[in-house]
Amino acid sequence: MPNRRQFIQQMGAASALGLGAKAGLSLAGTGSDTAFNGVPKQFPKTRLRVEGQWPEDLVGNLYRNSPAMLERDGFQHSHLFDGDGMIQRFTLEGGQVYHQAQMVATHKYLAEEEAGRFLYRGLGSSPPNPRSSRNNDTANPANISVRKMGDKLFALWEAGSAYEIDPDTLATYGRVDWSDDLKHLPFSAHPLRDANGDWWNIGSWIYGGQARTIVYQLDAKANLKRVKAIPMQQAGYMHAFALSPRFVILVNTANIYSAGKNYFDSFHFDAKGKSEIILLDKNDLSVFKTIDIPANFVFHFGNAFELGDELCFSMAEYKNADVMSKGLGLGPQSAFAKDATQYNSELNLYRINIKTGRWRKEHSQLSMEFPNIKESQPFKPQSIIGMGRPVSPGSKTDQDYLLSYHPLTAEQEVFDFGKGFTIEEPLFVRSKNGQEYVLHTLANRDTQQTGIALFRAGQLAAGPVSMAWAEEQFPFGFHGCFVGA
Ligand SMILES: [Fe+2]
Repeated sequence: MPNRRQFIQQMGAASALGLGAKAGLSLAGTGSDTAFNGVPKQFPKTRLRVEGQWPEDLVGNLYRNSPAMLERDGFQHSHLFDGDGMIQRFTLEGGQVYHQAQMVATHKYLAEEEAGRFLYRGLGSSPPNPRSSRNNDTANPANISVRKMGDKLFALWEAGSAYEIDPDTLATYGRVDWSDDLKHLPFSAHPLRDANGDWWNIGSWIYGGQARTIVYQLDAKANLKRVKAIPMQQAGYMHAFALSPRFVILVNTANIYSAGKNYFDSFHFDAKGKSEIILLDKNDLSVFKTIDIPANFVFHFGNAFELGDELCFSMAEYKNADVMSKGLGLGPQSAFAKDATQYNSELNLYRINIKTGRWRKEHSQLSMEFPNIKESQPFKPQSIIGMGRPVSPGSKTDQDYLLSYHPLTAEQEVFDFGKGFTIEEPLFVRSKNGQEYVLHTLANRDTQQTGIALFRAGQLAAGPVSMAWAEEQFPFGFHGCFVGA
């Protein structure tokens, strides 16, 4: 393990300042409702109204992170990524569902609470007279995901540190330094668990014109085991990654960073350029192979698996980065305000011969985002669940539907709540008696209420076995996790 000085030298930088990268994806509402306005700073615990029979042996907490605080002192951020993180918890116990939520007490949030206004520049919008940032965590809103690693719960951004959260009270313990050498360095919102219980993660960091990917390996208790900074040939945007038995799989996209007046202005999509699939050997974190593919853009991956010499992994693939630069804004060009289908991704399976580097792509011809798998079987070919996106031109985000797709068999399942409902990231969950379910939150856009829906895994088309509804609409969120009791 290098000490901090050695690590910074390794990174070729004199300080831990760097790329203010961050992203996430919620293709959820229009900009005109409560989900995007200023919100209460906490939601006290309330009980939701259950419809149907909520299984009593499904016990635990669904944690979700929302970019909730988008408005202060008359200023409203114009990009969904700029809201301060709020941890929402849906507690399942005794056949009932309860909800509560709390803002993440980041440095940014506390400073802005004291000032009574936004102080720091967002990624897609900037408040008046913004202060400059001292490091990557100065304006860290901790707003993309919330994950449990070991027995700890973390609110995650991607351009700076994780924040540890009390899983019971939702209070913020504070910023996490994986080591003294790694203070303020990027740690993505999408850590992945290995078959042995270890956790892997990446951070995209650009400093002094050199892009690097920091690769972290943590043990099952979320203690740092290894870290390495790997130079990149191009400063492409990376939000997440994939993991196979042998490899850490990076897709270095053709959305290229170069200094601009704000973060989103700093990226341009190089349609004539390339994206790179970079296979890192998990044994020594060396670059095993780099494979050029046509320019693409991706936030999220399905799982990876190896079939002999063939490495397979799925991604929700975009033809360009418009979804990041425009689609997730809250202005007239956003996916929320107009035709959402122009920002659709396609769930595609890449198949790579790891000896020859030859690759091919299998198209699902299905638009999906927020893909998830059964994390208990990370390297097994399996159905991917996610938000299906309507493909008819002119469709809105309130026409999303629940979708399951198996990348090898092309078996698919769909459940559509119908127009007016916006669904959020679905997760596989397991009851105490071993029953597998799919769980997700959703909003009824007409009644402005948030709900939670439960399906039997493998039986999505049959509709939810139970639902529960709040009296109001909670902020939309990006990602989360289920922690069974
Ligand atoms: Fe994400």
